[in-house]
Amino acid sequence: MTSDAPADTRPETDPSDPTDPRLPLRTARLVLRPLALSDIDALLAYRGQPETVRYVPFEPGTRAELLTRLRTDLVGAVPTDEGQALKLGVEVAATGELVGDVVLFWHSRQHRAGEIGYLLHPDHQGRGYATEAAAALLTFAFDVLGLHRVVARVDARNTASARVARRLWMRQEAHLVENEWFKGGWADELVFAVLEDEWRTARRAADGPAR
Ligand SMILES: CC(C)(COP(=O)(O)OP(=O)(O)OC[C@H]1O[C@@H](n2cnc3c(N)ncnc32)[C@H](O)[C@@H]1OP(=O)(O)O)[C@@H](O)C(=O)NCCC(=O)NCCS
Repeated sequence: MTSDAPADTRPETDPSDPTDPRLPLRTARLVLRPLALSDIDALLAYRGQPETVRYVPFEPGTRAELLTRLRTDLVGAVPTDEGQALKLGVEVAATGELVGDVVLFWHSRQHRAGEIGYLLHPDHQGRGYATEAAAALLTFAFDVLGLHRVVARVDARNTASARVARRLWMRQEAHLVENEWFKGGWADELVFAVLEDEWRTARRAADGPAR
């Protein structure tokens, strides 16, 4: 990986559809919206840090790499079929600041199965933003995509991420021992899951975005 990759000379256009009426998703404090090329500085500020990507399956991004990803796979389009993912930036509504991003994978149409992921700038952790954003993604997964079950897969050392999953009423269903060769060593993985009816029941009982 190198930071002096040649400049990308393709036109400065954003690939997301800005007219999709289902986006952005709004929560009490956040706007979850498609990322734009103009987010590159904010994205680099957290995705470029080793600390942010320690337990996720990619390395810190360079500006050139992140620009390429903004044009290709960090596209905020609503999935139309399995194998696709919704990737949204997390913006603080009060300030307009991009503080992270979240993802909802649609894994299987037959099994109505999906997966969530979340990533925040270190300066904006500890405020409940990841839980709030992921809760909106789960509601979207069940209400809009009609999923039945959504999982989160977490490195067992990533205690902050496991706490997010638990706050989202996700049940820990597995502790997989050394199941992945991850960044130079064997890593344990926790699997969390929540079903549609569990989500709806918990949400009704809590009358809020998350516990
Ligand atoms: C995983 C990650 C998103 C968790 O971030 P986080 O800030 O701990 O999670 P939240 O934004 O939901 O914040 C929850 C914390 O804010 C606290 N908090 C403070 N004010 C709050 C408020 N107004 N509302 C809710 N929570 C609040 C909560 O008590 C909680 O703290 P605790 O976990 O120590 O009990 C973050 O560590 C991260 O980005 N890591 C790098 C990427 C990564 O590993 N992603 C996960 C891959 S599986």
